[in-house]
Amino acid sequence: MQNNIKDDLILFNEIVNEFLNDEKLNPISKKINIEDLHKTLDLSLSENPITKKEFSESLRKLILSSPKSSSKLFFNQLFGGRHSKAVIGDLLAVLLNNSMATYKISGPQVGVEKEILFQVKNLIGYKENYGGTFPTGGSMSNFMSLIIARDKKNLETRNTGVKQDFIIYASDNAHYSIAKNASFSGIGKGNVRYIKSDSFGCLDLIILEKTIKSDLKKGYIPFYINATAGTTVLGAFDNIKEISKISKKYNLWLHVDGAWGGAVLFSKLYKRLINGVENSDSFCFNAHKSLGAPLSTSIFLVADKKDLHNSFSNDASYLYQTHNEDYNLGQTSFECGRRNNSLKLWTMWKAIGTSGISKIIDHQFALADYARNYVRASKDYKLYSFDDSLSICFNYKNFDPQDLCTKLYDLNKLMIGFGFFGKQSFIRLVIINSSNSEKEISNFFKIIEAFTLENHNSIKSIDI
Ligand SMILES: Cc1ncc(COP(=O)(O)O)c(C=O)c1O
Repeated sequence: MQNNIKDDLILFNEIVNEFLNDEKLNPISKKINIEDLHKTLDLSLSENPITKKEFSESLRKLILSSPKSSSKLFFNQLFGGRHSKAVIGDLLAVLLNNSMATYKISGPQVGVEKEILFQVKNLIGYKENYGGTFPTGGSMSNFMSLIIARDKKNLETRNTGVKQDFIIYASDNAHYSIAKNASFSGIGKGNVRYIKSDSFGCLDLIILEKTIKSDLKKGYIPFYINATAGTTVLGAFDNIKEISKISKKYNLWLHVDGAWGGAVLFSKLYKRLINGVENSDSFCFNAHKSLGAPLSTSIFLVADKKDLHNSFSNDASYLYQTHNEDYNLGQTSFECGRRNNSLKLWTMWKAIGTSGISKIIDHQFALADYARNYVRASKDYKLYSFDDSLSICFNYKNFDPQDLCTKLYDLNKLMIGFGFFGKQSFIRLVIINSSNSEKEISNFFKIIEAFTLENHNSIKSIDI
């Protein structure tokens, strides 16, 4: 078979058209049991080429059988929906295939990334010496912030490795990447202090300060606080303003993990949830979560680009041969070859403006209010999450959330997951697809109500 991009793009368009039609008709792809995977689809790779027909047929089947994360029935994880202007940007980035390491090999695409960082810097309120990059996701943004903070505490660490008992602080609701990153950075999972959150799922300030004081007394070296803007399960916002006072008082790096909720930055109505973010040392948000850009679009900024540079720049004479470090973005990124994750956000932002992005956020919060009101209006529902959150955590009657979510998936009804706060488990509805309206949210609840009515005998129950 020929390597012919024009022919293959014709096939691409055919498959896309079929997929988009199918997504409307069959919003949930039929579940394939793992043991049937290779019987259902031809995933095998063989020694010899296959025919054009065989190729298009196996590709078509594979695409149509994959979970449809942009459909109206997908609420399973913190991404969903698609903004067409972001999709076109990402498709073009694939075609261009620039690597963002140097100006020489990515040219104006460097300007695209820098323009976004500049605009986000203005929204945050960092000063002119800000810096930033587009890491592979929120976990990597958190990792980069940790490495920078570690090196800032002791620059020699870059040469000697970690020799001191550095201590990390995060709420017990912080993202699980904190633990992994502690291990990767040489600091160690055992040196993460999980601060008990308050009854709203936010980092408890009194316990935080008490723990820092106690660690100092014991000779440990506190150096980093990870505050969350939108916790993964409850969608709670830590009090950044108050946490920043503590971080300044004890000279600790404050990173704001806004992977889930940080995009409130764009909204005049909801930016209040991250009040004080201008006092942080670093910040990230994922445009692939609430904004509908394709995975992954993560934006990471530091208040002082010197800190980013100190940790992530390294000599590489084979690579950096022209231009300067402000335009050779590999000197402030983790990766060497780095795909262009900025173009998709730029195409979207260019098309709809800052006000358009702001409207997306306001719309998502309005849908979340609608969902919460729906839950609050009936005694058959119990709500576990709070206002000002895009996560609506609830139980319906006394159905076991874990069993119910799994059965909804097994029977191709709904893609939805469950979560925990303390020992309490619940269904977690995430308001993630900005092309949804109240109709889709109300339909979500109706599906649960109809499904449980029909299957009440087979779904496990819990005490609530
Ligand atoms: C609060 C928070 N931080 C970080 C992450 C990780 O982001 P990513 O999946 O892009 O690595 C998530 C993902 O859900 C998250 O909710």
